[in-house]
Amino acid sequence: MARVQIDSRHVIPRDFRRQYLVAARAEGVYVWDEDGKRYLDGSAGSSAVVSIGHGVPEIAAVMAEQARTLAYAPMHLFTHRPIMELAALLAELAPGSLNKVWFVSGGSEATENAVKLARQYHLERGAGTKHLVISRWQSFHGNTLGAMGFGGHTFRRRRYLPLAQNGPHIPPAYRYRCEYCADRPGCTLHCADALEREIRRQGAENVATFIAEPVVGAALGAVPAPEGYFQRIREICDRYEVLFIADEVMTGFGRTGRTFGIDHWGVVPDLIATAKGVSGGYTPLGAVIARDEIVEVLERKGANFVAGHTYTGNPLSCAVGLAVLRYLLAHDLVENARVQGERLLEGARALQARHPIIGDVRGKGLMVGLELVKDRATKAPFSPSLEVSAKVGQAALERGLITYPLQGCVDGVEGDMLKFTPPLCISADQVDELLAILDEALGVVERTL
Ligand SMILES: Cc1ncc(COP(=O)(O)O)c(C=O)c1O
Repeated sequence: MARVQIDSRHVIPRDFRRQYLVAARAEGVYVWDEDGKRYLDGSAGSSAVVSIGHGVPEIAAVMAEQARTLAYAPMHLFTHRPIMELAALLAELAPGSLNKVWFVSGGSEATENAVKLARQYHLERGAGTKHLVISRWQSFHGNTLGAMGFGGHTFRRRRYLPLAQNGPHIPPAYRYRCEYCADRPGCTLHCADALEREIRRQGAENVATFIAEPVVGAALGAVPAPEGYFQRIREICDRYEVLFIADEVMTGFGRTGRTFGIDHWGVVPDLIATAKGVSGGYTPLGAVIARDEIVEVLERKGANFVAGHTYTGNPLSCAVGLAVLRYLLAHDLVENARVQGERLLEGARALQARHPIIGDVRGKGLMVGLELVKDRATKAPFSPSLEVSAKVGQAALERGLITYPLQGCVDGVEGDMLKFTPPLCISADQVDELLAILDEALGVVERTL
């Protein structure tokens, strides 16, 4: 295994206990380290970023050409063709009247800017007391202070919480361990009704917005909401004039087998926050897509949306995003995500039959999660100190598979998961290769427990 030979002493690592491999190059669904060892990228970066695959020459060509002609523009005075063309494409892809786009550089900026836009909408229309953001426990909306405050990922927020604003949270829509109906034959949608109860507790006049991931990624390991959930959420939001933000940072642009994750429920949100797949890992890019009616309120007031960042809407990222999305559409990768996602889900279920530590298999499209348990009958989780998912992840890495191990699905602390979000260009043979390595890695760790 390639270990760090070059001088990395000046780089702050994410995890001081870890020795990092040196990535040398990547192509399609594979990454190679400096020793020439090949890894199947089962997580598409950190994570679900690489949508169309690594190293696509057409994207590199667009990037080089745009860098030569106009890499950056003074956005306080100019607009440019790539931003206009990309915004038009996003408006075409987004549901309903979500036709107005604000560009940012990543997912945390996207969720925070969506929240700011929601707040400003209420302010400009004369409902200035509306400011609270309701979210769900076991959710992730970004690592910046604002996004952490309204997110619900215990491990990522607890150290920094004194610096953030801790918003109200409702329980997740998490059928396997639902506190309302896990022991009932079907979902009761009490988890959706919890939003109404929280709005009433807080006072509707104080609540600006509700934010949720259609399929929960980092905090629950690919858990889709139950059928009817977002329809009920939409009704509640409409009843109390609360804007619904779909956080599509991970689920956007084909990841779940539909253009946006929320499309599975046929619901039109007020705002979409998105990033990752929009530029497929080629350049930092994110976007807020808003309903016409929201932006028109600001326009009528001649308002200033005070949210610009240095790289907001830079021509290079917009040109790359445009090229990535055109490639995605031209190669029908949304459909490939649906088809190969079913194969991955079925394959993971077959592994569950052989590996007693797999308690639950869930997902949508190429967003598939395994929950690892000590006892399948009682759903008892492993002690977090055993780091079972990290051990399976390490065993898989040694065998040439990149996974995304996670903890905290039970209550923010306990609960091991493995999440798989390979590039959307993955083939059937590559899905089988992923499953074969995972099978071996699970077996290795199981024998040690
Ligand atoms: C649903 C969701 N929202 C927001 C974010 C934050 O995005 P970023 O890491 O680009 O800031 C992520 C990142 O994983 C995410 O999965």
